[in-house]
Amino acid sequence: MSVMIYPGTFDPFTNGHLDIARRASKLCTTLYLAILPNVHKQTHFTIDERIEMAKACLANLDNVVVESFDGLLVDYVQKTGAVAVVRGLRSESDFRYELEIATANKLLYSEYESILLPSSIDLAFTSSTIVREVASYGGDISRMVPAEILDRVMERLHVHREER
Ligand code: COA
Repeated sequence: MSVMIYPGTFDPFTNGHLDIARRASKLCTTLYLAILPNVHKQTHFTIDERIEMAKACLANLDNVVVESFDGLLVDYVQKTGAVAVVRGLRSESDFRYELEIATANKLLYSEYESILLPSSIDLAFTSSTIVREVASYGGDISRMVPAEILDRVMERLHVHREER
């Protein structure tokens, strides 16, 4: 039995996240997609909305469980007994950030291990921030978010010109 965790803010879930979750789910028996707080980010979707959207996108992956956890990642790792934490690597700048997170978590919990999966090349510049920005102008995000949540994301984020 190997449990792994894919943590993030997922505000909202994107095709980039789907790519990592799908590939990571093949490397373990259970993958917990964990929605955790990031104190540096003010989120746009509520925790319940983010859970629902991630669940809708991952419904066809039998061994993926979507959960939220209000605490430190290392505590969640110990609670679930996960052998590793998966993160997506899009660019050099992600690598620096991931190294920082991995090192800090290792200091907090010596058994902490990370697996960094390079993101697929066509998704290397997708981020939740870009999705939110494009959607707010009514732009086409259909190649950035899974079809299951496209309407929901647009409805919620599209600010009509007269409201700006
Ligand atoms: N494809 C597309 N986008 C990707 C991606 C991929 N493969 N990998 C990362 N991203 C994007 C995300 O969309 C997000 O974009 P945004 O900044 O525009 O929102 C950004 O890269 C990184 O965010 P995310 O992957 O959601 O992680 P995060 O950095 O916000 O969250 C946590 C990191 C949740 C793991 C961290 O804050 C945490 O562990 N929190 C718990 C508290 C804790 O333990 N803190 C101590 C940490 S050392």
